[in-house]
Amino acid sequence: MAASRGAFSSRLGFIMAAAGSAVGLGNIWGFPTQTASNGGAAFVLVYLVLAFCLAYPAFMAELLIGRYGQANAVTSLQKISRNIFHKRFAFVVGFGGIICAALILSFYGILAGWMMSYAVEPFTRIIGMESTADWVITQSLPRNLLFCALFMFLTIFIIRRGVEEGIEKWSKRLMPVLIFLLLGLISYVMTLKGAREGVSAYLNPDISRVLEPDLLISALGQAFFSLSLGTSVMVIYGSYISKKENLVTLGAQVTLIDVSIAFLAGLLIIPSMYVAQAQGVAIFAEDGSLISGSSLVFTVLPSLFNSMGDIGLYVALAFFILMSVAALTSSISMLEGPVSYAVERHNMERKKVTTYIGIGIFILSAIIIANISFMLDFVAILATQYGQPIIAMLCCVFVGWIWFRNDILTELKQGNDMVEHSLFWKIWPWYTKFVCPTAIAIVFWHSL
Ligand code: PFF
Repeated sequence: MAASRGAFSSRLGFIMAAAGSAVGLGNIWGFPTQTASNGGAAFVLVYLVLAFCLAYPAFMAELLIGRYGQANAVTSLQKISRNIFHKRFAFVVGFGGIICAALILSFYGILAGWMMSYAVEPFTRIIGMESTADWVITQSLPRNLLFCALFMFLTIFIIRRGVEEGIEKWSKRLMPVLIFLLLGLISYVMTLKGAREGVSAYLNPDISRVLEPDLLISALGQAFFSLSLGTSVMVIYGSYISKKENLVTLGAQVTLIDVSIAFLAGLLIIPSMYVAQAQGVAIFAEDGSLISGSSLVFTVLPSLFNSMGDIGLYVALAFFILMSVAALTSSISMLEGPVSYAVERHNMERKKVTTYIGIGIFILSAIIIANISFMLDFVAILATQYGQPIIAMLCCVFVGWIWFRNDILTELKQGNDMVEHSLFWKIWPWYTKFVCPTAIAIVFWHSL
């Protein structure tokens, strides 16, 4: 069965694909932005702790469900179920995750479209098409629709090709490009005036803020978004991993890559802001906090690139290509959830159904674009602040309370004979049973 439904051909293939899903706008835009608006390094510290202590165990739960089930999220969860109530519950959780992924893609595609338009801008200036360059960076309905459609086209193009030829091949191509661009940009920014001040603002924690509820909520939300939890994505990626692989190590490696890239992105963006300040660009809002959100990426950074002269065009090009690539390796994972469900549960042909679902999601994006002032935030909040934590929590409940402990151990032992004697096995089962659901529920409750 595994061969006909597709599978990752190698360990590296899985790592690149899962890290590709995890590393996206959330890392390169969301994380530095949250860091800037939550007091710098205090946020980084809390994020690191929560990513490893709460997000990693939940991530492992999703991967394990998928590898056991060797199927889409709904079927995998139903394979664990023991009675009709469990099966219905499995449907709600699995299908809820798939809907959540589709909703995220509908707004993510719009943001990714903006990144692509900002990547086209320096290019058009380099070749002398000034009026096109102005058009692509001016907010307008046609511009937003065009670039969102372009981005969705690329996402559909990759997913139509399947797991090995699409997801794995493209993740293996794009992830090195992303890392190369990120490191290159950091090295360049570090040579500029003001960068040092930015590094110290980034790395000196204000410990008094560490326990602030708002900071904790933002950090947990960010960690869950970043590991693509509660969206069925990691269940389906888990289902494409060979039974010979050691899941515990693979999961830890992906988490480590994700967290490291977020950290590196902070090391690019925050110092860049201080470099911009040294060039006369305002980087503090009226209330004294660092400018964050969309003004950071679409106002502060472009002003910095402008102030660099000719080289600024190339730096801007590299930066926005980096953003677009990061978004693409994530968006393909979001589309894979609904597609694998339709292919496996309703026997639909992969290529066709990918195009239909992709177009369906694009139509939703178009509706959001037409009502951007209220719908963009609404859909983003609905999917990421409500959908993701609830579904991720329910996946932990499934593993902790419904799945038999011995069956979990048998699954984990595949590819990892010694797991029974490991620290992971001593901690993780009760952790997923009690700590993760409770902590997620508390944080979620608080955020209401
Ligand atoms: N992890 C991605 C990011 O950090 O940008 C976002 C994401 C991907 C969320 C896939 C949800 C998902 F299913």
